[in-house]
Amino acid sequence: MDIVRIRNLKKYFGSGEHRVKALDGLSLSIEKGRFTVIVGASGSGKTTLLNTIGGLYRPTAGEILVDGVNLAELSEDQLTVFRRRRVGFVFQDYRLIPELTVRENILFPLALDDARVDEVFFGKLAGCLGLGGKLDAFPYRLSGGEQQCAAIARALITRPAIVLADEPTGSLDVKTGQNVMGLLKMTVEVFHQTLLVITHDLELAQMAESVVRLRDGKTEVQKCDLCVPGV
Ligand SMILES: Nc1ncnc2c1ncn2[C@@H]1O[C@H](COP(=O)(O)OP(=O)(O)O)[C@@H](O)[C@H]1O
Ligand SMILES: [Mg+2]
Repeated sequence: MDIVRIRNLKKYFGSGEHRVKALDGLSLSIEKGRFTVIVGASGSGKTTLLNTIGGLYRPTAGEILVDGVNLAELSEDQLTVFRRRRVGFVFQDYRLIPELTVRENILFPLALDDARVDEVFFGKLAGCLGLGGKLDAFPYRLSGGEQQCAAIARALITRPAIVLADEPTGSLDVKTGQNVMGLLKMTVEVFHQTLLVITHDLELAQMAESVVRLRDGKTEVQKCDLCVPGV
C-alpha cells in the first residue's frame, strides 16, 4: 500500500520573472512501512517536496495523496489537524522547546491535541531512543545526538502515518549522525513507522530501503526492490 502518492506535482514560488519552479511535474509513490531517502543536489527541490507532503506548503498543481487524504481538498484548519495527527517532523536543528523537559517536549504534540498519553508506548519509545535517564532534563543538558533523539521521539509519539526528516544528521558529527540514522531505521523495524528522510550523505542513504533522487524539481530515479516507480 502507498502512503504517499504524487502525480505531476508542481510547486512554484514567486511570480513573473521571479518565479522559481521548485517542483516541476514530479511523480512519486512511497510505500507504507518503508524507509525511503531523498537525495539530490542543493536546490533540487528536496525540502519543498517534504514540506508539501507534510502539508506545510500547498501545491501549485498536481495530485498529492497522503494516507488517503487529498491535501488539495483540505481547508487551512483541516491542514493544521492533518499536520498534527498524521505527520511527524524532524528538523536539522531539532527545534525542541528549551523551557520544557525532554518528557514534556516528547509529549507536546499530544498536549496540543488534548490526547491521552499511552505510557507504555512512551516508555518503549524513550527506551529505544536511549532517553530513559534524560526525561526530566532540559534540552540544553543533552548532547546534539540526544536532542535529535528527543525530537525523533516527539515525531513518533502520535503514531503518525509518516515521519518526515529534513537532513536530520546535518548538525551532527559523522559517528553521531550514523547512530541517529541507525535509530531512525530502528523505528521502521520496531514501530513499523513509514519514514522519509532527506540526506546529502550518500553513505547514510545506503541504510534506506528505497532511494529517490531529485533533479530540477523532478524525480530522476526511484529505486527500490518492491515498489513500482511512480512515473
Ligand atoms: N520559500 C521559498 N521562496 C522562494 N523560493 C524558494 C523557497 N523555498 C525554496 N525555494 C527555491 O526552490 C528551489 C528548491 O529549493 P529546496 O526545496 O529548498 O531545495 P533543496 O532542499 O533540494 O536544497 C531552490 O531554487 C530554492 O531557492
Ligand atoms: Mg533542503
